[in-house]
Amino acid sequence: MKILFIGDIVGGSGMDMIRRQLPKLRRRYSPDVIIANGENAASGKGLTRDDHDELLFAGVDVITMGNHTWDKREIFDFIDGSEALIRPANFSPEAPGRGTVTVQKEAGTLTVINLHGRTFMPPHDDPFAMADRLIEEAAAVSPLIFIDFHAEATSEKIAMGWHLDGRATAVVGTHTHVQTADERILPGGTAYLTDAGMTGPYDGILGMKKEDVLYRFKTNMPVRFQVDNGRTQLGGLFVEADADTGKARRVERILINEDHPFNG
Ligand SMILES: [Fe+2]
Ligand SMILES: [Fe+2]
Repeated sequence: MKILFIGDIVGGSGMDMIRRQLPKLRRRYSPDVIIANGENAASGKGLTRDDHDELLFAGVDVITMGNHTWDKREIFDFIDGSEALIRPANFSPEAPGRGTVTVQKEAGTLTVINLHGRTFMPPHDDPFAMADRLIEEAAAVSPLIFIDFHAEATSEKIAMGWHLDGRATAVVGTHTHVQTADERILPGGTAYLTDAGMTGPYDGILGMKKEDVLYRFKTNMPVRFQVDNGRTQLGGLFVEADADTGKARRVERILINEDHPFNG
């Protein structure tokens, strides 16, 4: 099974990158399943119904979320009705929506699990114990299991990679918006990348206009951040896995911007 993952889509610039680049990525990789983190799709924070629908129309099968899940209130109206949208599984049991979804394709059956870190982040339930429980359930259906671990600390993400090595097809980090270059297949067969990086502005600061963020750093004064609208980038990961064993066979990091043009 071929899986394409797209890192945090930020604002209109990220959605524009999906429109322009996803068709080319689909031609290059022929993915069976496309997963995208959509927590910042709506003007940098949250996900609207329009963004949700447009991502599905573009070919995305599963949308994952993170700490910005609830920032656009309208998500409460559609999260329970969406077949494609998941939010971190270790949120409170009171939270609407669900943390895992199983996708059936000709190439195999894949379960996608979204988890939230808790180092330098809000104290959600234990993501490691939640991963154990959800993987046990998913493995009874199919060994193809993909994890989006939305976390701040590189150490917590690497720990999750080792914790799940041999039990998940892929463990990919999101949230920092900065891509790491440590893609690999761990000894047990789990594809791993600490952070896929973001899909959105290339010249801002984590997606926001640099002037606003600089002003905050220099003055500690409150300022409203806006999504940068200059040059754009796309961050992601491609994983090819054996559908019978769930083990990753190939992993390829994807970074597209003016300094790393896509020639596919
Ligand atoms: Fe994000
Ligand atoms: Fe985040």
